[in-house]
Amino acid sequence: MIKDQLAGKKILLGVTGCIAAYKSCLIVREFIKRGAEVKIVLTPSATEFITPLTLATLSHNEVIVSTFPPSQKDGTNLSTWHIDYALWADLMLVAPATINTIAKISYGFADNALTTLVTALRSPLVIAPAADVDMYNNPINMENLNKLEKLGHYIIYPESGELASGLSGEGRLADTNKIIDAVELILSGYSKDLVGKKILVSAGPTYEDIDPVRFIGNRSSGKMGYAIAKVAYLRGADVTLISGPSSQSIYPEIKLIKVRSASEMERAVKKEIDKSHLLVMSAAVSDFRPIKAASNKIKKETGKMDLKLDLNPDILSSIKTKNTKVIGFALETQNELSNAKKKLKEKHLDLIVLNSPGKESGFEVDTNKVTIIKQDGKSVNLPLLSKFQVANKILTEAKSIL
Ligand SMILES: Cc1cc2nc3c(=O)[nH]c(=O)nc-3n(C[C@H](O)[C@H](O)[C@H](O)COP(=O)(O)O)c2cc1C
Repeated sequence: MIKDQLAGKKILLGVTGCIAAYKSCLIVREFIKRGAEVKIVLTPSATEFITPLTLATLSHNEVIVSTFPPSQKDGTNLSTWHIDYALWADLMLVAPATINTIAKISYGFADNALTTLVTALRSPLVIAPAADVDMYNNPINMENLNKLEKLGHYIIYPESGELASGLSGEGRLADTNKIIDAVELILSGYSKDLVGKKILVSAGPTYEDIDPVRFIGNRSSGKMGYAIAKVAYLRGADVTLISGPSSQSIYPEIKLIKVRSASEMERAVKKEIDKSHLLVMSAAVSDFRPIKAASNKIKKETGKMDLKLDLNPDILSSIKTKNTKVIGFALETQNELSNAKKKLKEKHLDLIVLNSPGKESGFEVDTNKVTIIKQDGKSVNLPLLSKFQVANKILTEAKSIL
């Protein structure tokens, strides 16, 4: 078991007057579930959409709505709560953020409890806007968001889709999971440091058909590759994910190319690679495939199945790249380090990630234990970490060669 990155973290949540304010309940629940401590501040407009009582109950803390809370007015606590809160926090998240509050923050207003608190903040500020499409795309809002981003604040851009008004377009609050991921990313000390980079990631297993209902697969869940794609996106990269069959979900902003077999994956990689600065080949590509898939289901009455296999294309060996850096993965059970180093050289990789399969690492689980080996033979031996954290470590090493 490893410690959750959010456990013990002190998070301030600001909620503003949006229809999406109800989603703040889901965000609070997730923070609490993962062991974070949460204190909440609402704008007066937010109370039109959600009650302080709901959020106080979920967060197990008093919720502040007024700059001069009742406990100060009756003289029980005359502290400068906004300064205390600001100094207490490891991070502040405003989600959902109205265009009104975004404008106020970008101009340094301190006219309600939330905006006052933001001006006193020393820790990172994360803003997740939500608004109807025309409000969101309003040039003044765009300018305000650009300004906040340039000042170093982290913006979790909204998604496109159906909106509460019935209109469709950009402005829907980012998915709760993506908001939590972004908060974890920032609390782990990362930022949007891969802006301008195009990153291609392959993930998951490949399925090699035996007949229309059966296939040869492997135990890869896709979790490692999906984590790399997500982290690359959250760190600002333009990401394309080529995925074999997997039940993992991915952010809508990531271009997803679904493939099934090793040959399909090879074609997709070859088509995309020259558009990318980096290829992270984390897919578990099947080494073998049936020589010929039967066109009809092979009946069990035939008594036994004689399965003849051919070698699949070795994607890493067959790609020719000029400017794209390539990271490969190795899963070895014997002579791990020397086999991985051999693969790094033979396949002309820039980095190789050696997976050490075990109970808590490798296939299907959320954690992994890897060693990152560089071209000069030096290696970074990582402890057991979540796949999200492993992805961050891999991308930090990748950044140094991009
Ligand atoms: C039903 C309804 C839904 C609203 N949803 C949003 C929204 O999603 N985003 C937004 O920026 N403003 C929205 N507004 C407008 C804000 O509530 C309004 O600008 C308010 O002044 C924001 O105050 P605050 O930023 O202090 O919370 C909505 C208003 C109404 C009546």
